[in-house]
Amino acid sequence: MLYKKEVTITRLIKPAFLLGLIILMASYSSPAQKIDPDSQTETSIDSLLNLMTIEEKIGMIHASSSFTSGGVERLGIPELVMSDGPHGVRDEHGRDWAPDNASDDFVTYLPTGITLASTWNKELGYKFGAVLGSEAKARGKDIILGPGVNIIRTPLNGRNFEYMSEDPYLTSQMAVGYIHGVQDQDISACVKHFVANNQETDRDKVNVVVSERALREIYLPAFKASVVEGKVNSVMGAYNKLRGQYCAHNQYLVNNILKTEYQFPGILISDWAAVHDTWEALVFGTDIEMGTDLTMMPDADYNKFFLADSALAMIKRGEVDEKYVNDKVRRILRVMYKTKMFSGRTQGERNTKEHQQVARKVAEEGMVLLQNNEFLPLSTKLYKTIAVIGHNASRKHATEGGSSQVKALYEITPLEGITNQVGTNAKITYAEGYKPSRDNSVDKKLAREALEMAAGADVVIFVGGWIHNFDLSVWGKDAYDAEGIDKSNLKLMYGQEDLINEIAKVNPNLVVVIMGGSNVEMANWMGNVKAILQAWYPGMEGGNALANILFGKVSPSGKLPMTFANSHTDYPAHAIGEYPGIDLQEKYKDGIFVGYRYFEKEMITTLFPFGYGLSYTNFAFTDIDVKKEGDHVVVACTITNNGKMEGAEVAQLYIHAINPRIERPLKELKGFEKVWMKPGQSKRVSFSLDKQSFSYFGEVELGWKLDPGSYEIQIGNSSADIRLKETIVL
Ligand code: GLC
Repeated sequence: MLYKKEVTITRLIKPAFLLGLIILMASYSSPAQKIDPDSQTETSIDSLLNLMTIEEKIGMIHASSSFTSGGVERLGIPELVMSDGPHGVRDEHGRDWAPDNASDDFVTYLPTGITLASTWNKELGYKFGAVLGSEAKARGKDIILGPGVNIIRTPLNGRNFEYMSEDPYLTSQMAVGYIHGVQDQDISACVKHFVANNQETDRDKVNVVVSERALREIYLPAFKASVVEGKVNSVMGAYNKLRGQYCAHNQYLVNNILKTEYQFPGILISDWAAVHDTWEALVFGTDIEMGTDLTMMPDADYNKFFLADSALAMIKRGEVDEKYVNDKVRRILRVMYKTKMFSGRTQGERNTKEHQQVARKVAEEGMVLLQNNEFLPLSTKLYKTIAVIGHNASRKHATEGGSSQVKALYEITPLEGITNQVGTNAKITYAEGYKPSRDNSVDKKLAREALEMAAGADVVIFVGGWIHNFDLSVWGKDAYDAEGIDKSNLKLMYGQEDLINEIAKVNPNLVVVIMGGSNVEMANWMGNVKAILQAWYPGMEGGNALANILFGKVSPSGKLPMTFANSHTDYPAHAIGEYPGIDLQEKYKDGIFVGYRYFEKEMITTLFPFGYGLSYTNFAFTDIDVKKEGDHVVVACTITNNGKMEGAEVAQLYIHAINPRIERPLKELKGFEKVWMKPGQSKRVSFSLDKQSFSYFGEVELGWKLDPGSYEIQIGNSSADIRLKETIVL
């Protein structure tokens, strides 16, 4: 990538000598260039724009291949090279859509987004992003298309595995760390999908109708944080419509909110084939149109894109002012300067031990221990024969799930991880037990073999849950937990539920590990098992991380980023919402009451609440202190590890408005800190709350409001386990 650019500039030095001077000047500006109207970069961009023809400008605002947007070779402006995905750099397929099946594009396969969110560890978010940015740089990419931050509104969304949480604050904090990690590598992150793309069903047609308050309090915060705190360089416009206009060119969302209110200086990139109108794309804020070739398949003609020939014609006919195109090109050039695409970047790294250790750490801290009847951690002193049962114990997931697929250098399965850990001092046996089938049928022979094996073992580790099988030849079909399709319910498939109950009858020493992008129904079997661990899709080191937890090398410390309810029908999107939409219209009737906000308001019993997760040790919360400091409220408390093992606790801070003037959730997450402690150790954690922490979005005032009154500050280790409270009057 760098070589190509150097050649380009060298070859053209004479005609573009002036340009060379401009670039040189720009590259001397401070490395962490702030984008502000009077910066040197803006001056350089002005000069570049003056040199460009309208045809050259148009060439930059739409795709020039499957994952690049146009450059201007005459002026030494390179193409922008993009790549999926949120948890690893996608396998190489060059300028078309056919995988190159290369041998040099293996990468680090990180745990998926929901696993990262379950760590509740902001520093890990940064490290995760740093790995991704470094590997993208090593693969010659300029933009990595992540993080995915869409709110988990329904547990059926096939892409929940790529996203983070039902809560906007947790999502925001994890996204900001991730973006800083990526962009400190001089690579652009691309926060997606802007906005309210909360399902895969009819994702490119459904028109979401959502209240301003819900938009502001639930669906926008992660994008606002990514722009304002994260300084993200690009945002991906979602497929769906919002209030009647496609998100990729939506006047209110893109021009009013993102680019004016949030002062976003970067690039709005459409999702692939998410642009549907030239005039709207020109005027309502699409900066780069990607993926329209998908609708033209098999003959991709990039001049036929909406922002190509037809846009050029519109400008030449004077129907749209060229200033709209200039702004788009300005934004693209800003990002090019900011990410050193002219002055040159350092080399990235790929497949290093350090990167793999980050993957393992995120997996270890992201797995959530849901149930433990004094059973875990396991000891091989007690258990000499360990039966590992379940298709997911030996399945690899990296290449599945859709566009976020990863060509992992390796992937340690649960069976391999357990064998690595205890294979020398225990006998490990394996039975598949069940297998995926298109008709969700049960393989009785497999089940029988598994039961026999279970009966002969000292302990059984069952590994089940979802797969995100994605057969690209039948886009959107033949998948269960993947892009392009939603699940139809949360029931365990292929007879897993009966198999778990049958195993429990022949061997009560049963641990169940659930993998997947969201929860499964548990009520029919959880009472028959000793322990349950939610492992999500834990990446290439997932098997080792799982074994480290099961055998006590590390204590589990994950916390649920989404509520685990009994059935999908309990969730507000289904109970009071219009999911998946009526005639492609979907009113978000749940409003701000998404996730725990809803379950608490309606006092609905759930299996495991938001923020919940067990440890191998236990923690005390003491000495809360709340005081005003200027226009902030500073809160502190002490956490003590009262157990026998090192572990981590996540102190979660919720705000409860006492007798609010308007309806508000009973509690809202407004702070969290994760601390590791040795047995007997105490740590003091502190939080700083600002006005925004106590405010709601007033639909009458159309702005954020902080009503005077009493507010309860609640600190706990789950939304349903508050340990300390203190009331403050504002
Ligand atoms: C897909 C996804 C988006 C991805 C893009 C490129 O349809 O919605 O997340 O980055 O297209 O593969």
